[in-house]
Amino acid sequence: MKKKRTLAFLLIFTILTSLCGCSASAITIREKRAAEAVTRAEAFWEKQTVRQVGEPVVFSDYEKPFAYALQYPKTGYPVTDARIESIVAELRNAFEQEYLPDENAKGEKQRSSQPIATMYMDYETYLTDENHLSLLLFTTTETAAEGMSPHTPIHAFHFDLTEDKEIPAAELMWKDFTKNASIYTQKYFTSTEPYNKRIFGDYATRLAPDNGYFDRFVFTEEGVLFHFDRYSLFPGDMGTVTLTIPYAAMRTKTPAADERVDAPFSVTGKKMVALTYDDGPNPVHTNAILDVLEKHNARATFFDLGQLVEKYPDVTKREAALGCEVGSHSWDHANFNKLTPEAIKADVARTDAVFQKVLGRSPSSFRPPYGNCDNSRKGYIPLPIYLWSVDTLDWKSRNADAIINEVKKIGDLDGKVILLHGIYGSTAEATAYLVPYLQEQGYELVTVSELVEAKHGEVPENSKIYGYHYFQ
Ligand code: NI
Repeated sequence: MKKKRTLAFLLIFTILTSLCGCSASAITIREKRAAEAVTRAEAFWEKQTVRQVGEPVVFSDYEKPFAYALQYPKTGYPVTDARIESIVAELRNAFEQEYLPDENAKGEKQRSSQPIATMYMDYETYLTDENHLSLLLFTTTETAAEGMSPHTPIHAFHFDLTEDKEIPAAELMWKDFTKNASIYTQKYFTSTEPYNKRIFGDYATRLAPDNGYFDRFVFTEEGVLFHFDRYSLFPGDMGTVTLTIPYAAMRTKTPAADERVDAPFSVTGKKMVALTYDDGPNPVHTNAILDVLEKHNARATFFDLGQLVEKYPDVTKREAALGCEVGSHSWDHANFNKLTPEAIKADVARTDAVFQKVLGRSPSSFRPPYGNCDNSRKGYIPLPIYLWSVDTLDWKSRNADAIINEVKKIGDLDGKVILLHGIYGSTAEATAYLVPYLQEQGYELVTVSELVEAKHGEVPENSKIYGYHYFQ
């Protein structure tokens, strides 16, 4: 990387030398100041490390009274590159307007051969499978009086490289984009160390959906990446803070087919497993399981019975508050293969009503009792239908060691969905062991919907059965 920068600098220096018609000594000062700017830029340039697209262009210059050391990408896509050049020109122009000396100071400043202000720029580029380029430009300034600014304004741009065109951010933000980002960010930063101990007291106002923090984003393989400028939420020593929100968490529920947008979903290589708990909520055992998940910052999926949601609404609310997925397991555990379509519709409606009352929304998904929902009946369930791929038989053994052994004997658990029941002390006990154990094995504990999105690059589809073979 160092070598490339030096080469690029030499190239620019050569061009400047050959084009400039000024006297030899002026060239020397210009080239000297430009080189100084590049040297001072190195520390700033070290901070940006993600370069998934293009080659860096280094531009350095000193043209009284301003110096520049800018790095930005050349992608090889002509329209995209022209747009990047014009964005850089706009940012340079804004910088010059800001630091232009006023008339009185002009004469004195211009006698000096020192720049009154230097502009630094660096970049990061992110590429998704869908050939979506997210470009971040980081700028900062330095003045003789105040030194290097502690602020690093960040600018985000998006390009569709297949079409070679820029896409305005607004066109990429699906329904509830900023709202979901706001909810997730507040929950994450107030429940995760060290952020929860350092976050400014008025974070809720600062992180409101329409306060501007969530319009500037990057699409990555893992999710939507947000940057929070230095001093915006945390003390300055924490610098710029970043947070990647999984795509699944950026949607409150499965979007209807007509409001679906082509988000850049892509399949992750990260190891993931989904723990699922049926038949609750139970005020004792479900809460013990939630204590474990909260302690280890893990998520699971709960398939709750409508009648128990009505009875223990606070437990279901806590499931949702901890970022877990809350799905339906029917109203009262009926065997759907024995129900008429009318009875299924009535069960779905009744369960949906209690979810609306308690959580303000429908269940995210459905797990049929006994795994029974044949193809002629699935059309009556307006939710993704999730089965499992690992059965712990916890309802039968009622023994934590036996449950743990059922999980361990599978070996590779990546992409698997584990069936448990949230109503037994033995299952809660097994959970207390399994959660940290699985994390130590390198697994991220995710919800079933997150797993479908991250492992299969798919938006969960209503009335579709995701079964044993899918979760392998
Ligand atoms: Ni059940």
